[in-house]
Amino acid sequence: MTRKPVVIGVTGGSGSGKTSIAKAIYDRFKGHSILMLEHDYYYKDQTHLSFEERLKTNYDHPFAFDTDLLIEHIQRLLQYEHIQKPVYDYAAHTRSEEVIEVEPKDVIIIEGILVLEDERLRDLMDIKLFVDTDADLRIIRRMIRDIKERGRTMDSVIDQYVNVVRPMHNQFIEPTKRYADIIIPEGGQNHVAIDLMVTKIQTILEQKSFL
Ligand code: CTP
Repeated sequence: MTRKPVVIGVTGGSGSGKTSIAKAIYDRFKGHSILMLEHDYYYKDQTHLSFEERLKTNYDHPFAFDTDLLIEHIQRLLQYEHIQKPVYDYAAHTRSEEVIEVEPKDVIIIEGILVLEDERLRDLMDIKLFVDTDADLRIIRRMIRDIKERGRTMDSVIDQYVNVVRPMHNQFIEPTKRYADIIIPEGGQNHVAIDLMVTKIQTILEQKSFL
């Protein structure tokens, strides 16, 4: 049997806590062969646009992402080849010049708001998770994070949420719940869900004789 990494997709709305879940799983395998790919890092390069034009981009629509590049990278990692992961700058709204050299690993976690939206991505996954968190909690978390970490104002966060994030969530993210193998309530504090996931991944790795 040829060696093939295990691919896990983790999705959920903005502020749902999917990064915490993905990171908690990642941390439990620390020291083992695991890596994480964030779909956010694959937002399209917008260096050819002015800053004002970049502000008008709809970052919650599938078109905003260079999903072709993410798929190409996953396919290379599945062949145990290295990739150069792009880096995204949220303050500048574009890809930075930096890239991260990523070595192939036996477990690949793919995380992002729209990772279950693209059928080609779904087809690459062995396990699909949807982190389901109420909208009120998601907007509160997003407000705190965007002001503290992404250089935004309260007015801009509210405006973006009402006019873009919420309608796009309802149109593109929420419907992907149907593709999930597991729907996890809340985020990184759901230790039962994290334990179940870790056990399942361990079982797959043992079946593949990776452990
Ligand atoms: N986004 C933005 N400006 C950009 C690029 C993206 O405001 N230049 C926003 C999009 O509106 C999208 C969000 O970034 O809704 C995606 O990140 P999110 O899923 O909120 O971040 P995570 O930390 O991964 O989410 P979680 O809280 O679930 O862990």
